[in-house]
Amino acid sequence: MTAQALVEAFFDPATRTVTYVVVDKATAHAAIIDPVLDYHPQSGRTSTESSDRVLSYVKLQGLQVDWILETHAHADHLSGAQYLKQHLGGKIAIGENIRKVQSVFKTVFNMERCFIPDGSQFDHLFRDGESFAIGGLRAQALLVPGHTPADMAYQIGDAVFVGDTLFMPDVGTARADFPGGDAHQLYRSIRKLLALPADTRMFMCHDYPPATRAVAWESTVAAQQAHNVHVHDGVGEAEFVAMRHARDKGLELPSLIIPSIQVNMRAGHLPPAEDDGVRYLKVPINVLGTATTGSAR
Ligand SMILES: [Fe+2]
Repeated sequence: MTAQALVEAFFDPATRTVTYVVVDKATAHAAIIDPVLDYHPQSGRTSTESSDRVLSYVKLQGLQVDWILETHAHADHLSGAQYLKQHLGGKIAIGENIRKVQSVFKTVFNMERCFIPDGSQFDHLFRDGESFAIGGLRAQALLVPGHTPADMAYQIGDAVFVGDTLFMPDVGTARADFPGGDAHQLYRSIRKLLALPADTRMFMCHDYPPATRAVAWESTVAAQQAHNVHVHDGVGEAEFVAMRHARDKGLELPSLIIPSIQVNMRAGHLPPAEDDGVRYLKVPINVLGTATTGSAR
């Protein structure tokens, strides 16, 4: 029988991100997935309320953190990985294709010469299919590109953490129009996830619920196969790609994409301080997106 992971979820209403703590009850070892560092764009200040909720839980439960896992370089929130590592330990890991994302955005942000786009800012880079352990729980990293080239899903015991591939069945799927994104790849990645055992618990990275229901983040492979509005069983690749292209055309960039990418491609480190001791984020003018407005999905 597949081991049951204990999953505790922490929802950040500001960015609609769900951070997970995944626990092996037998050994009290744990992994943290997609932690958030709060960022206030009006003041350029960071704060740690979101990560502190995770930190308190881990301390209260007496957990040993083995891993801090990123599903991808997020464009909608800054990562709390460095803050949590500093307090709890654990190895910060992401998919090895982060190098591709770093290469693209090193140019976009004209980053310092000494920033090398080789993934070395992270403690570990996962290959597709690589196995790892959380205490006694067996886990596997699954490459699921399409939203970005570096997206990984993490299958842990009887659960899978899907990152930005699928959303809840009534919301659908993630956009595929970021640099290096590809709707064809996203479709194939989703089919790979939907080929997991039907009763696999699926945990989303975000929720954007319709007005008729509360925020939710847990589904199953069977429920997604039957009910996902974009990609239920029977929807073919061509149909999906046409839908995704049409939909992505109307989406504005996420409001925190510019600060998020600069921090998250550094594994959650802020940029180095300048000669006045202050860290700065850059805004490339007339480089990203278009001057339209719309929703950010
Ligand atoms: Fe994302």
